[in-house]
Amino acid sequence: MVATAPVEFESAELSQKAKDFLASPKKMLLNGQWVESASGKTFPVYNPATGEEMAQVAEGDKEDIDRAVKIARNTFENSGWRWMTPSERGRIIWRIGDLILENLEELAELESLDNGKPISVARVADVPLAADLFHYMAGWATKIEGTTIPISVIYAPGARFHAYTKREPIGVVGQIIPWNFPLLMAAWKLGPALATGNCVVLKPAEQTPLTALRLGELLAEAGLPDGVVSIVPGYGETAGAALTAHSDVDKVAFTGSTEVGKLIVQAAAGNLKKLTLELGGKSPNVMFKDVADLETAIDGAANAIFFNHGQCCCAGSRLFVEEDIYEEVVAGVTARADKIKMGPGLNPDTEMGPLVSQEQLDRVTGFLDSGYSEGACMASGGKRLGERGYFVAPTVITQSKPDMKVVREEIFGPVVVAEPFKSADEILPLANDSEYGLAAAIWTKDIAKAHRTAELLKAGTVWINCYNVFDSALPFGGYKQSGWGREMGKEVLDNYTETKAVCVAL
Ligand code: NAI
Ligand code: MG
Repeated sequence: MVATAPVEFESAELSQKAKDFLASPKKMLLNGQWVESASGKTFPVYNPATGEEMAQVAEGDKEDIDRAVKIARNTFENSGWRWMTPSERGRIIWRIGDLILENLEELAELESLDNGKPISVARVADVPLAADLFHYMAGWATKIEGTTIPISVIYAPGARFHAYTKREPIGVVGQIIPWNFPLLMAAWKLGPALATGNCVVLKPAEQTPLTALRLGELLAEAGLPDGVVSIVPGYGETAGAALTAHSDVDKVAFTGSTEVGKLIVQAAAGNLKKLTLELGGKSPNVMFKDVADLETAIDGAANAIFFNHGQCCCAGSRLFVEEDIYEEVVAGVTARADKIKMGPGLNPDTEMGPLVSQEQLDRVTGFLDSGYSEGACMASGGKRLGERGYFVAPTVITQSKPDMKVVREEIFGPVVVAEPFKSADEILPLANDSEYGLAAAIWTKDIAKAHRTAELLKAGTVWINCYNVFDSALPFGGYKQSGWGREMGKEVLDNYTETKAVCVAL
């Protein structure tokens, strides 16, 4: 096993603004007011770089969810929000994006502290992308259009009709957010819900509630009317479950594990609420021997798995390399893994921080243990780093077998399984051999082969000669057990509107 670079444990200081936020009481947002939970209970939030508690947050439960849903229902049915002009709504959503940019540094610090991700990444990716999503969705607010439809009504000869469709908000939407991109995932969910005129009850992940709470302050500052968005922090099994089971919630949008996705499907059956689910992945990253530039492709393969410590639903966790270049690619990815600078997210030169929680540390090291016991080879990493915080070394696994746990299951850590393949014919069944279908990538300079392969990969996103390219305009979501529906782009608006057909006899 190759030695991994030592972890730097000393952390840079927070800015005064972020310190002040951290020291302020963290309550829940109901009807524009910051209030304690009904039970008065709070829960701890930990710094993943040290394992130390850094804040207490109001702990929402069923009663708080009930209050939030009532507020959302009342705001939706009785306030001016639904009847606000699209232009006015768009301007508020745009302003949310502006305020995120105005507070970029503070949000990046809080995100890095809470999740563990490098501040350098939060600054250029998480926070600006969240702002961009609101800016993009602000433009859609004025473009939620129906159509006029020439109808025939064959059983009414001679009759004439004027028929058209309207796109209406669904109503009260519950949104459940994961911890891997806390602010960005809140933006992905809130942006389209607001652009289409819904009211929202948002539950951030219990591991990372800080930026959602700060965002709640910015929503009010942007002029969003009270009650349009309520934010109820709390645990999944309590607050989350209450939201998904609530009979007055019209739709739930969820990002998280496939396991919880299935629980939500069951919970939603009570009132048949609409669902969008963005779930797990085990995405194939396919490298043919005719790559345009091997170094670029190797960088791409390393980025595909190590970005955000592998805590990405679309992580390129199964790397398939055509056998002629397999050894060289594995050596290249391994060399990159060994050079990654590990440390607390807040350090400006950290390239990979800790995993988000003790639970994730246990999960990921559990997968590594199973890899060892099933006979896989760790070409790099393969272990926890240090005794403090939740650091795991970037890991490259070789000599795997198709039925090993590390090959089949989502690890959600910086762990890639590299496998050789023989030919273009062989790769499709291998790449598609997964219960998931979120993303995939292809590396080749043969354009026809790239497009042919892209067509046959069962995945909601296919990247060709790139990886982890996201844009507010590009729909994202999964085939198979990676989920239902799409986020972002024009596509997501369909998931937040009902179509009403109106027919007038002339
Ligand atoms: P999770 O699916 O339990 O948590 C995600 C969100 O769902 C959190 O806000 C949580 O509070 C909520 N939740 C949990 N149980 C719920 C329930 N019964 N009803 C309603 N909401 C509930 O994910 P967890 O336990 O944090 O991570 C486990 C694994 O899930 C990870 O190792 C990873 O494989 C996967 N995951 C995938 C994500 C993605 O982006 N697709 C994000 C987070 C986790
Ligand atoms: Mg869970």
